[in-house]
Formats: sequence, structure tokens, C-alpha cells
Amino acid sequence: MGMPEGICGSRALPWWEECALAIRKVLQVGDPALRKVSRPVEEFGRKLHQLLDDMYATMQKEDGCGLAAAQVGVLRRAVVIDMGENDEDGLMELVNPVILSMSGEAEGKEGCLSVKGKRGFVTRPQKVKFRAQDRFGNWYEKIVKDRKAVAVQHEVDHLNGILYIDKMTRYVTPEEEEQDAKEDE
Ligand code: NI
Repeated sequence: MGMPEGICGSRALPWWEECALAIRKVLQVGDPALRKVSRPVEEFGRKLHQLLDDMYATMQKEDGCGLAAAQVGVLRRAVVIDMGENDEDGLMELVNPVILSMSGEAEGKEGCLSVKGKRGFVTRPQKVKFRAQDRFGNWYEKIVKDRKAVAVQHEVDHLNGILYIDKMTRYVTPEEEEQDAKEDE
């Protein structure tokens, strides 16, 4: 998931951490891998940890708030989400996430690192309860709302081959983007 500049602050990584990470290529819409259903993660070892670390580094580099493994061509159910410096959760890792319940409804503007340079209006439930595993396989449950709830739904959609453009009513126009940029100043 991509967001307008300024909302997703990048967390700077120390050089020794950066050296160990690989920035992976983010697939763009039209690539068939983005339309596949990802398989569950079954092993919680070094390979998964490397994948999650690389996904995080890639997301940071691309200034996104969320990334699913399918977007870097790995068809496994793994997601990273980071809403930025002002978010108390920091980096969230969702392995094999399952949405348990949803409520409310809100329209928001969504972007995606696999749909470069565009955003669209999508209406989704405003609050979501999900369960997921961490990188060691431990299950946890969490309730998220607003932008974080959008991010969770958006990334879980990726694991099922669904992109936000399938659900949007229309793209945000260049004029509306300009207006938003002004308001952010
Ligand atoms: Ni996305």
C-alpha cells in the first residue's frame, strides 16, 4: 500500500542492518503473480525472516505503508505494515493473517506500490479484528481501525490476488491530488 508523501515517515535503519538487507523488485499491475492466491507460510525460520526483513526494507525505500510478499513475487501469506513514526504499533508483521470480523464503513484514498503514481477511492469497513502469526509462528489477535484497518484489508487482499483498483469507485484526479498536497503543507 502506498500513501502520499509525509504520511508514511521512513524509519532510518542503521548501516549494519541496511547492509544485510536486500531491496526487492516490486511487481507492477499486469504481472500475473499479483493475481495469484498466496499459499500459507509453514516454516518460520531464517528464510521467512530474511523475506520479512527484505520486504520491510523495500517498503521503506519505496515510501509505502504496507507490502505483501506477492508484490515481491513470493506467493506466501506474509505482510508487513508500518503506518509511520506517529503510530504506536511501529512495524507489524502479519503471517497467515485471517480477518475475524469487520464493522463500520468509510471511504478513503488508497495507493499501492504495485500501482505506481495513482490513488483511488475505496469504501471499506472502518474497523477490523484479525489474527495472524508473528515471524516465530506465535498467533496474536488485534483490532485496528481507520487507516490501519484499510492497510490490513488492502494487504490481505493482495494475498488473495485482489488489488484496490478492483474495488475502487474511481481514481483520485490530478486536481484532487494537488488540493491534498496543498492541505498537507
Ligand atoms: Ni498494495
